[in-house]
Amino acid sequence: MTRTPWWRDAVVYEIYVRGFADSSGDGEGDLRGIRSRLGYLRDLGVDALWLTPFYPSPLADGGYDVADYRDVDPRFGTLGDFDALVADAHAHGLRLIVDIVPNHTSDRHRWFRKAVAAPPGSPARDRYIFRPGRPGEGPGEEDPPNDWPSAFGGPAWTRLPDGEWYLHLYATEQPDLNWRNPDVRHEFEDILRFWLDRGVDGFRIDVAAGLVKEDCYRDLAGRGVRTANGPVYSRPEVHEIYRGWRRILDEYDERMAIGEVWTDDPDDLALYLRPDELHQVFQFDLQLAPWSAAAFRDVVEAAVTAVAPTGAAPTWVLSSHDSIRHITRYEQPEGVPGIELARAKAALLLLLALPGSAYLYQGEELGLPEVVDLPDEARQDPIFKRSDGGQLGRDGCRVPLPWSGKSEPFGFSLAGVRPWLPMPAEWASLTVEAQEGDPSSTLTFYRAALALRRRLVPGLPDDLEWLDSPAAALFLRRGPLTCALNCGENPVRLPPGRPLLTSIPPYGDLLPGNAAAWLASP
Ligand code: BGC
Repeated sequence: MTRTPWWRDAVVYEIYVRGFADSSGDGEGDLRGIRSRLGYLRDLGVDALWLTPFYPSPLADGGYDVADYRDVDPRFGTLGDFDALVADAHAHGLRLIVDIVPNHTSDRHRWFRKAVAAPPGSPARDRYIFRPGRPGEGPGEEDPPNDWPSAFGGPAWTRLPDGEWYLHLYATEQPDLNWRNPDVRHEFEDILRFWLDRGVDGFRIDVAAGLVKEDCYRDLAGRGVRTANGPVYSRPEVHEIYRGWRRILDEYDERMAIGEVWTDDPDDLALYLRPDELHQVFQFDLQLAPWSAAAFRDVVEAAVTAVAPTGAAPTWVLSSHDSIRHITRYEQPEGVPGIELARAKAALLLLLALPGSAYLYQGEELGLPEVVDLPDEARQDPIFKRSDGGQLGRDGCRVPLPWSGKSEPFGFSLAGVRPWLPMPAEWASLTVEAQEGDPSSTLTFYRAALALRRRLVPGLPDDLEWLDSPAAALFLRRGPLTCALNCGENPVRLPPGRPLLTSIPPYGDLLPGNAAAWLASP
């Protein structure tokens, strides 16, 4: 019998390293902080951790601007701390996935510094994407080489004093690499081996669809930047890279890679999951879906259908370091107080009942909301800066975790230290300490759901079956498990089965609005 690979139904917990736990007292999370909390993560009941980038970085984009791919930023620790973390995580039964950022480097990376110092047309510049501009309107003026936008606002090109422009699909400080250059390919294959040899169990590939651009650099001319096989994302050439990476991963035992691929084309998504490419891709649609049973059902069906031809399992995600926390997304302007927490707990039961693997984001197990009222001067996200404050950006979901105590830094850091983003005073009631041992807390609910899922998973088939349900609800069955989710306001009759876990107590055989239940199928 072949064993199910560990990632296929894993619950993976995303750690935003800078905001998880600070052991050194500098106000920023670090690897030792994570190590000191492994017991918490094991007891929570997740299978694996995904660490956001901890590599040396000027943090122009929270570490997704990497200056050295083979080291740890001193603010986060040392390579020795990393090795100790891998060993301890494994001893706690937790796998470790690290983020790899191959689309762009930091502008402080040695390659980019060399490129800037070298003349146009030099081999050093060929590792990035340098192009001449186009004549602008006024005399002597120049426009960028084409109309591509940066994902963070403004054009995707910056001009150097010598007149050449370089491409950055993200911030100015994140120059895009030229994946047609063999140096780039070899470098990243070597970087993969570097971390595999240190014992990582997998990689989360940042901007996985963007690595190779069409080499004529034509305008988008109104087409969406994410269009599959357009000039920017999901070019056919990108797949050859992942075939090479897969060969490397296969030289080691049980290592995996998950790609960050934003696409609305299921056929495009499936290409990454061919048997000689990536093991998983993120399927982000639950994150985008409104609070609606019909919308959730559509998303689930589409996601399952998209991966079906590949044999890979789907992946599910409600929140991440890039999106507004789902508890806040589920708020209603005139809603009943607490409705968003009720919905978030119900959504967890849906998420964990689905086939495939689930990616949780740190703090959702505490019911942390998005922090919407950060002072402007505290905000760090380049989206906020590049839009002149027009877009708040992603800092609100990156506020450090509250562990204990009654005031900032809530055990995130040493007493008296100011964390890198301010923490709301109201979080005193949301700390791990405040929730631990409280049978009605969000944390207790997450632990119960994860523990039960772990018990049930080995007996669950991959297939799911929809049962008849009232329009505001969805009922799905996976063999011995039935999940009922009621997105409406009025109670619905539960489907048959013995209740195993509910997000709020049912009334007899009625499931209240904004609630979910797991039942043992009859
Ligand atoms: C990461 C973001 C980052 C961007 C550029 C993403 O998709 O998740 O946090 O800003 O890539 O690296």
